[in-house]
Amino acid sequence: MLNIALPKGRLGEKVYAMFAAAGFECPSILEPNRKLIFENEAAGVRYFWVKPSDVAIYVERGAADIGVAGKDILLEYAPEVYELMDLNVGLCRMAVAAKRDFRDNPARTLRVATKFANIARGYYAGLGRDIDIIHLNGSIEIAPILGLSDVIVDIVETGKTLLENDLVPMETIVPISARLIANKASYKFHADEIEAVAQGLKGQVKAD
Ligand code: PRP
Repeated sequence: MLNIALPKGRLGEKVYAMFAAAGFECPSILEPNRKLIFENEAAGVRYFWVKPSDVAIYVERGAADIGVAGKDILLEYAPEVYELMDLNVGLCRMAVAAKRDFRDNPARTLRVATKFANIARGYYAGLGRDIDIIHLNGSIEIAPILGLSDVIVDIVETGKTLLENDLVPMETIVPISARLIANKASYKFHADEIEAVAQGLKGQVKAD
């Protein structure tokens, strides 16, 4: 049985549809209840829904053999996993945004609010810019409005959240999409099963 960690939410449903179309269905997953673990013995798969930012932890520690995680999480936490495939879903970008009237003063330390401290640090280190990270867990867009930070580093998908909070995107740091990841030991010992899933998914990945 392959243990597969899927990100709970809209992206997870889309990703599950790809697994199902690839021949790894688990019909009980679609029942309207709050269960978190589902298995289809005949297909050899057990799925579980976890918080999107936790998928890589389950896979890294071997509680899941494979899973689907956003590139944002892989860049931020650098988990010891194999990244097998870009699934070309969950497309968005990591960006810097600020209030419309913000003007950077390079002589001052830049205050950056973000959930993605490592990505932000790496980006500004590359620019040789001094920053002060303000680590938040959500609703990052509020920080510049209340004067808590000068800019934010956050995920932008449609841009609607920025627009509706009077912020503007300034720079794109990196494009993001969902990736199929595998536990390193599982990939060695269950190579055939994991490759079968990966091959099936390959047929479901939509080209740009
Ligand atoms: C993300 C991100 C933005 C929003 C961007 O939040 O932090 O707030 O999506 O999407 P948009 O460009 O389409 O408006 P998410 O929903 O992941 O929740 P969060 O508040 O936990 O970050």
